[in-house]
Amino acid sequence: MKNAAAKTKAAAGLLVLITLFCSACETGNTDRTLRFSAKQTEALYQSVRNQEGRLPRSADAEGNLVTSGDDYWCSGFTAGTLWYLYEYTRDDRLKAAAEDLTRRVERQQYTTDNHDVGFMVGCSYGNAYRLTGCPEYRAAVVNAARSLATRFDPVRGVIRSWDHPQWHFPVIIDNMMNLELLCEASRLSGDPSFRTIALSHADTTLKYHFRPDGSSCHVVDYGVPEDGAYRRQTHQGYADGSAWARGQAWALYGYTMMFRETRKPEYRAQAMKIARFILGHPRLPADKIPYWDFDAPGCDGKEPLRDASAGAIIASALLELSTFAEEPLAETYREAAKTQVATLASPAYLATAASNAHFILRHSVGHFPHRSEIDVPLTYADYYFVEALLRMKQLKIKF
Ligand code: GLY
Repeated sequence: MKNAAAKTKAAAGLLVLITLFCSACETGNTDRTLRFSAKQTEALYQSVRNQEGRLPRSADAEGNLVTSGDDYWCSGFTAGTLWYLYEYTRDDRLKAAAEDLTRRVERQQYTTDNHDVGFMVGCSYGNAYRLTGCPEYRAAVVNAARSLATRFDPVRGVIRSWDHPQWHFPVIIDNMMNLELLCEASRLSGDPSFRTIALSHADTTLKYHFRPDGSSCHVVDYGVPEDGAYRRQTHQGYADGSAWARGQAWALYGYTMMFRETRKPEYRAQAMKIARFILGHPRLPADKIPYWDFDAPGCDGKEPLRDASAGAIIASALLELSTFAEEPLAETYREAAKTQVATLASPAYLATAASNAHFILRHSVGHFPHRSEIDVPLTYADYYFVEALLRMKQLKIKF
């Protein structure tokens, strides 16, 4: 009898140990996907390690890696992805890789001929400074803000996106993303002027870029200030009046981030209006990864192509917006983001090891009207996907 009781006790103890061991091993889909992302992105880094001055960009039709120079608008994303993955793993190899790719975009802090310094320097140097506190990284963020500020026109109240004779003073909705760098630079330098520019840009964009249904056009061309004329167009979308999916994603992310920075209720209200447009759109597929343009027609009886990058950016933005919303709206945002992340982490979008030129996600669309980067991996899809996974962890949302 005594022997049987001892055996039962031992078996129960063993069961507890097995359960504890299994729960330590079973870290869930978010961790599994982050670990895969770390391996894949480290391999991506290895493929450019000996190509000094080159940065990952995409893959060609044969699945070969396509790279860019440091002056391409996406040059800072892989460094940023590596920083995020270093933050998650604390693996020094990822840190060394992130440092190397960050250094490769060093010159961009002085770029004044386009608005993309926020992407190029914010994602690379911004994350580098956040995680290391190194003064050299801090200086690059402030220098980049100084460069970006040269493109601000105080009369129109906005930062000029591109210098191209096709437009008078073009501002694209993507430009909202650069405002984070300006707000950060004001904090780091004590100079409030960067933040003042960011607020002016966000306020003016709110006035001119949006339609009554909450969708955004891609380009607003501001005419001569005296006549106050402006023209709404598209460059990467299906039509001037259409809702280009990544444009909606930049808008949602931009106003959510500007609410975090300023607590201005108008920005949260605008972010919620954009979220309502996206999530309530009759053409948003059930898995919530949008077509490359909400208004794009199908072709040969097939649906329009999906854009994983827009899905990843929207997911990350919705996760942050959920923290600024009351229930049950917050739950709506969390659930939508969870569906998007789960879809992107499924075999339909997630690459298999060593495939996809070592990018994490497949099926993004860069510039459909120019027939460029269609249904390919893109650095910014990976960056915002990893960011969304980290936000899922932070908010303890499982999928
Ligand atoms: N900023 C350019 C794009 O989203 O494609």
